[in-house]
Amino acid sequence: MKSLVVYYSRSNITKKLAEDIASQIDCDIEEIKSKVDYNGRLGYARGIKDGASGKIVEIESQKYDPQDYDVVYIGSPIWASRAANPAISYLNQNKGKFNNVKFFLTAAASGFDSGFKQMEEKSMKPLKTLALTTKEVKNKDYDLTSFLE
Ligand SMILES: Cc1cc2nc3c(=O)[nH]c(=O)nc-3n(C[C@H](O)[C@H](O)[C@H](O)COP(=O)(O)O)c2cc1C
Repeated sequence: MKSLVVYYSRSNITKKLAEDIASQIDCDIEEIKSKVDYNGRLGYARGIKDGASGKIVEIESQKYDPQDYDVVYIGSPIWASRAANPAISYLNQNKGKFNNVKFFLTAAASGFDSGFKQMEEKSMKPLKTLALTTKEVKNKDYDLTSFLE
């Protein structure tokens, strides 16, 4: 089974989880990089505004083509109860190219259901989903067994 892990991460939490997932399966891994600057306080405010609107933003071109993989694991933080715009933009850009997807989301506390729904609308029904809080990722307080099966 050929797998790809793709993620967007503003402050490295989703990145940490993505790297842990990737370390447990044989896969390629790629970070989604935003052309919109979401760093710092101004970037945080922009993230809240863009997250709520769900708008598509420009992202850097990708090295790997999702069409080449049996399953693509797609990860994002939650912004304003939705998946972060760069992750949504990746899904939008690659619509119709996924064979199978699994989604993983991180959030301080909430917004997972609406985030997964939005990701599904932009791509397809996922085989599996994984929702973890920032704290759970930081403390490595999770078990990936069923998500990776
Ligand atoms: C712009 C912005 C909006 C956020 N909105 C939410 C939210 O609606 N609900 C929530 O529980 N956490 C929210 N968070 C917290 C992040 O989802 C959480 O810290 C996440 O683990 C960060 O992942 P990252 O380090 O990969 O960017 C928000 C963070 C940012 C920067």
